[in-house]
Amino acid sequence: MNEHFVVRPADALAGTVDVVGAKNSVLKLMAAALLAVGRTTITNCPQILDVPLMADVLRSLGCEVAVDGDVVEIDVPAELNSEADYRSVSRLRASVCVLGPLVARCRRAVVPLPGGDAIGSRPLDMHQAGLRLLGARSEISHGCVVAEADGPGAALRGAQIWLDFPSVGATENILMASVFAEGTTVIDNAAREPEIVDLVRMLQEMGAKISGGGTSTLTVHGGADLVPTTHRVIGDRIVGATWAFASVMTGGDVTVRGVDPHHLDLVLDKLTQAGATYEAVSEGFRVRGNGRPRSVDWVTLPYPGFPTDLQPMAIALSAVSEGTSMITENVFEGRFRFVEEMVRLGADARTDGHHAVVRGVPRLSSAPVWASDIRAGAGLVLAGLLADGETEVWDVAHIDRGYPRFVENLRALGGNVERVNAPPAR
Ligand code: UD1
Repeated sequence: MNEHFVVRPADALAGTVDVVGAKNSVLKLMAAALLAVGRTTITNCPQILDVPLMADVLRSLGCEVAVDGDVVEIDVPAELNSEADYRSVSRLRASVCVLGPLVARCRRAVVPLPGGDAIGSRPLDMHQAGLRLLGARSEISHGCVVAEADGPGAALRGAQIWLDFPSVGATENILMASVFAEGTTVIDNAAREPEIVDLVRMLQEMGAKISGGGTSTLTVHGGADLVPTTHRVIGDRIVGATWAFASVMTGGDVTVRGVDPHHLDLVLDKLTQAGATYEAVSEGFRVRGNGRPRSVDWVTLPYPGFPTDLQPMAIALSAVSEGTSMITENVFEGRFRFVEEMVRLGADARTDGHHAVVRGVPRLSSAPVWASDIRAGAGLVLAGLLADGETEVWDVAHIDRGYPRFVENLRALGGNVERVNAPPAR
């Protein structure tokens, strides 16, 4: 693919940007639809490639799926295929979230391992440990994670489950696996991300008896039959925050609509420390930059901590801030690959283990750079807005996977960016 973005220096970004449903929510909600026979409708879906890819995963399990604009309709049959097919799963890491619903519905699931990731290793040990406590055998066999209720005709049983770390994916899979288990399941040290709350809400609408969504203890009273529902995906807080960072970096004035500012309490507070002001407005929030940002230290942690998905934006902002910032990555060890690309753009940055030290410079220096994942790609584009000359950002397919209409949205705010097809520069 020769497609890349050309980014030129931008003045203060200004205007309003509408943000649609969260990528990290919609894929799990599509998987949750498997739990009820009949038609589930999901609205406010982002128009990104991952949605049709997830539709393919569900089709391989026997569902009929229609994707029409921001609406996804999933018809779930009484008999599901319990084995996801490698071709569809391998294209979408998040498809591993069908594991829990399949074990719940079929008492058995075979899901090919989606493989490595540019942001670091992503094991499934906590997912498997949780399923084992619910009474399923689980092993990795021939490249697949296999889970099966122990013994013929055996049911899953409610259990007390402690997660070693509040993993988003493990919380989701164990939660969905437990909805038909006999008795009560308690998931402790559960993830508290707004996307988990969204999933809990949808499962409740389907008839599941779950309490504690948004806290670190989820309680599920298993056994209820679930019915299909119509559910609206929550707004994408990571996309919304990306525009907030762009506003602060350029001294701009950007209103983000479609995202609950409470999902970004800590992020917006940090941006205030960097010199910005923000206010809640109808259906969103407004963030105004104020000259060159001040340096701030950033520490990524599970929600409600600072999101690892915004770590590249924090580094991009630190790279042009007044002063020195320390960034600590506690969730994905591979994320600092992004720093190498930032150094190519003239950032004064170095890493040591899971810390990065960034000394801000007034202006970055344009160069061709490569996006290693969705968020790194967005961070490089923001950095390009503060670089002299033309910055080429390559491997933009990553950006397209997480940011619907990225170029169009950024241009509408006054960003000087275009999508170009040309031979690679190296
Ligand atoms: C989700 C998000 C991702 C976000 C991340 C953390 C989706 C599709 N992706 O990923 O954008 O960056 O949450 O907010 O929703 N871990 C284990 N064993 C396990 C499971 C996880 O060691 O069984 C580790 C991971 O390697 C990682 C950490 O736990 O270091 C957090 O991972 P997790 O919260 O599970 O992230 P994902 O659900 O994969």
